[in-house]
Amino acid sequence: MKLLLSVWTRLHRPPPLPGARLGSARLGSGAADEALIRGSSPRAAADEALIRGSSPELLRALGSQVEVKTAFITEEEEAALLGELEPGLRKKRYEFSHWDDAIHGYRETERVRWGEACEEVLSRVRSVAFPEGCSLLGPVHVLDLDKTGYIKPHIDSVKFCGSTIAGLSLLSGSVMRLVREDAKNHWLDLLLPRRSLYILRDQARFSFTHEILKDEESVFDGERVPRQRRISVICRNLPD
Ligand code: OGA
Ligand code: MN
Repeated sequence: MKLLLSVWTRLHRPPPLPGARLGSARLGSGAADEALIRGSSPRAAADEALIRGSSPELLRALGSQVEVKTAFITEEEEAALLGELEPGLRKKRYEFSHWDDAIHGYRETERVRWGEACEEVLSRVRSVAFPEGCSLLGPVHVLDLDKTGYIKPHIDSVKFCGSTIAGLSLLSGSVMRLVREDAKNHWLDLLLPRRSLYILRDQARFSFTHEILKDEESVFDGERVPRQRRISVICRNLPD
């Protein structure tokens, strides 16, 4: 089933791997200090440590447009989501598609109606990720990546999706890479822990490709991030 492949307008070959850690900006303990000075929570500082980039300027410029929130859902909430999703997903086969497709090793579905526990989680996602009153894409997109699956660099269709993409990661951590479309030496890596929420907005969503690295390449700031089977639950808004 290709139902959501229409979401992708443009495909890009993977960029050359960025110069690993050399020259990468770090938001380590310095960020924690800054967060204290600004009065934000230690949790927010920890979340900043989940983002690395090609330069401090880029990190600052995109700061408000890229967020990763650790432990956004509890183990119980993850189990509730999986409980609703697994029966339907299990009936599908993973697609190991042609090399030029955006996703490799996946099955997917969309869901409009959810049980109470899941609806509660999704309304929390919507309230942190989207401005009040903005129109959301009705169905939530669910993407199940096999352990060997991955998502190549792409930009979500501007025709079908608005300025914001918010995704929960179930079952596995992963690394999401953002690369500026017209300047591939500008990049950000996001560590997406299991049960975290990521949000991409505005330029981060329109001017940067995003991708989920395959297991062999799944390294964040020099640390290996083993990729297991991963399910993402993605909310989007509608274009203006
Ligand atoms: C997508 C996508 C990312 C994810 O489906 O367009 O980029 O977290 N998904 O699965
Ligand atoms: Mn996408």
